Amino acid sequence: MLKVRGEEQEQLFLAARAIRKAYTNDVVSLRGVIEVTNVCRVNCDYCPMRRDNIKKNERFNMSEDDIFRMAEMIISSGIGIILIQGGEDRNILPAVEKAVRRIVSVYKDSVEIILNLGNFSKEQYIRLRDAGASSYILKHETSDSSLFQRLRYEPLEDRLNNLVVLKSIGFNVGSGLISSLPGQSIESIAEDIQIALDYNVDMFSVSPFIPAPNTPLHLSPAGDNDLALNAIACVRILRPSILIPSVSALEKNGPGGQYRGLSAGANVMTVNFTDIEHQKKYLIYGKDRFVVTKDHVKLTVEKVGMRLQHNNVPIM
Ligand code: 5AD
Ligand code: SF4
Repeated sequence: MLKVRGEEQEQLFLAARAIRKAYTNDVVSLRGVIEVTNVCRVNCDYCPMRRDNIKKNERFNMSEDDIFRMAEMIISSGIGIILIQGGEDRNILPAVEKAVRRIVSVYKDSVEIILNLGNFSKEQYIRLRDAGASSYILKHETSDSSLFQRLRYEPLEDRLNNLVVLKSIGFNVGSGLISSLPGQSIESIAEDIQIALDYNVDMFSVSPFIPAPNTPLHLSPAGDNDLALNAIACVRILRPSILIPSVSALEKNGPGGQYRGLSAGANVMTVNFTDIEHQKKYLIYGKDRFVVTKDHVKLTVEKVGMRLQHNNVPIM
């Protein structure tokens, strides 16, 4: 199924869309993202924010006030889901915890907070939950444990165990993979999809590999969008009501990539609300990443014939 192309691929997408329509009413859930730090303890071979680049990049950690201010901008544009993400750095946790507490105390049930900040202890996760965050994304990236170890210099097991911990303390959880990583087999991508089922995740993403500058993998070939799209369609069919983003990496690989993501069964889009000063330093995929704007989301969602999720305020 992951290998289909052409007419067969269109049939696969059609089936995924029919299931999405039946289970989710074709509503696209919108998230506003705040990129809170570019400091990272991990040394992933595919990411320019890796630890070894610490001296090359200008580092930032947002303050509680920065995060709160950007959250207000997200909410005032009509988006009720805030995604706080960053490199894995425990120094950011106090600011995030305070900001989350403040956002939830002001906006109460009209806001939902998703975190994507990496591996921490159960106690640290509990603090974030108690502050008011309801979901946590911890992508497993690849289910091939030796490839994971080779590219990230740490065990896959820690991450999978943390997924269980997060779920056990009441978080909605998300996982996801990077497809077309150098050395990754198609069989292991089937295993990646199996993780969505085995761990009963609520959210799942598929990003095609982007060879990013200033990384050991910068000369490797770019990921195959069709493979990523097929994986999205398979996940939709196997887990009908799951949240699947159509990620910016699809667009970076080719214009219209995110439109194809929605055509293949995705139902989430993310708008970037990080201010320009910090955005410039958030080097994921390198300097010329594709930064998703509200207009781009609107056009993409309209083109595919889906509807944007409305909060209490008219959207955009
Ligand atoms: N190509 C594709 N996806 C990447 N990510 C990081 N670097 C790359 C890359 N070069 C994804 C990972 C990570 C998220 C922040 O972005 O899935 O979890
Ligand atoms: Fe850190 Fe995430 Fe980049 Fe890995 S992909 S180096 S964990 S920011």
